[in-house]
Amino acid sequence: MKFATKAIHAGQEPDPTTGAIMTPIYQTSTYVQEAPGKNKGFAYARGKNPTRIALEKCIAALEGAKYGICFSSGMGAIDAVAKLLKPGDEVITGDDLYGGTYRLFTKVYENFGIKFHFINVMDPATIEQHVNKNTKLIWIETPTNPMMNIVDIEACSKIAKKHQLILAVDNTFASPYLQNPIEFGADIVMHSVTKYLGGHSDLVMGALVTSDDGLYERLAFILNSSGANPGPQDCFLVLRGIKTLHVRMDRHCFNGRKVAEFLVTHPKVDKVNWPGFENHPGHALAKKQMKDFGGMISFSLKGNKLEDAFKIASSTQVFSLAESLGGVESLIGHPASMTHASIPAKEREKAGVVDSLLRLSVGIEDIEDLLADLRQALG
Ligand SMILES: Cc1ncc(COP(=O)(O)O)c(C=O)c1O
Repeated sequence: MKFATKAIHAGQEPDPTTGAIMTPIYQTSTYVQEAPGKNKGFAYARGKNPTRIALEKCIAALEGAKYGICFSSGMGAIDAVAKLLKPGDEVITGDDLYGGTYRLFTKVYENFGIKFHFINVMDPATIEQHVNKNTKLIWIETPTNPMMNIVDIEACSKIAKKHQLILAVDNTFASPYLQNPIEFGADIVMHSVTKYLGGHSDLVMGALVTSDDGLYERLAFILNSSGANPGPQDCFLVLRGIKTLHVRMDRHCFNGRKVAEFLVTHPKVDKVNWPGFENHPGHALAKKQMKDFGGMISFSLKGNKLEDAFKIASSTQVFSLAESLGGVESLIGHPASMTHASIPAKEREKAGVVDSLLRLSVGIEDIEDLLADLRQALG
């Protein structure tokens, strides 16, 4: 099946009891057993829920993977990957990472004796230099949040395979419609389902996919043991959201391009980070590993003043000032004080998250309204 057909049908069969075309919300915590240990494959809903299984199969199909596992949040999914590690293990990851991932690694898992190297993962030679006998995992995001840098998934996968490491890719910004990291050799793909997969800013969820039997078993064991499972109602909403993923993404990409092209010509704008520009350092790579360039854009202002960025972020009317991304509505955010506030100022500035940086999640509203809104807010 092609992507659009999978988005609508994968993992979903008409309900066997009634023929209901939509997967029912199995709002139950437990399942009645005929005799001790004799059940219909379901014993307790932390372990398995039919609505969740349908969603897991759907997300796996969209990523071209064998297995999917859903979690109560994107962070819950990342936490499960970190739980594959043990004290003394080392992780190579990017220096331009979602703030919550940075916080989980440094404030939670460093306490358990795991060492993280936050480095320039855009340079494969730098990755190689940091591999040692304790390295177990390479964790990357591409495009990165919020700098829109592109990391070479295939190059990372070659290093991972050479040293028998796990390569995990946070694919939240691209969505499975634009990029399938498994195709380029990733072992685990992670999504904040909260974003494009859900698509309507009405829930929080995470997912992991893998084609590796051993990793799937370990991650499913962690989900059942640690209990970060999503509820069936949210799984239903995501199944519904995914049915329009391809249509939404096409419009996000169209509107994203128009907004990027508008910003780059604006006299008050300094730098626009969007991989669709031919002079973006990751443009060729993005063309290779992505289908299109998406609706995420960040930009800084001439003079780099915090108050100028705050003024713009508070003046937009169609773009709402809010954390998160990937919903049908356009959002504007100020990474340094919002999504990336948990990263020390020096670290984030080194990565380009300067005081005047603003991040846009370009939604699927009418492009004329979006451009008019930015025009009036920039002044
Ligand atoms: C790139 C990226 N990864 C992970 C997360 C965490 O996901 P969640 O908010 O669903 O826990 C986010 C949230 O903003 C994100 O943007």
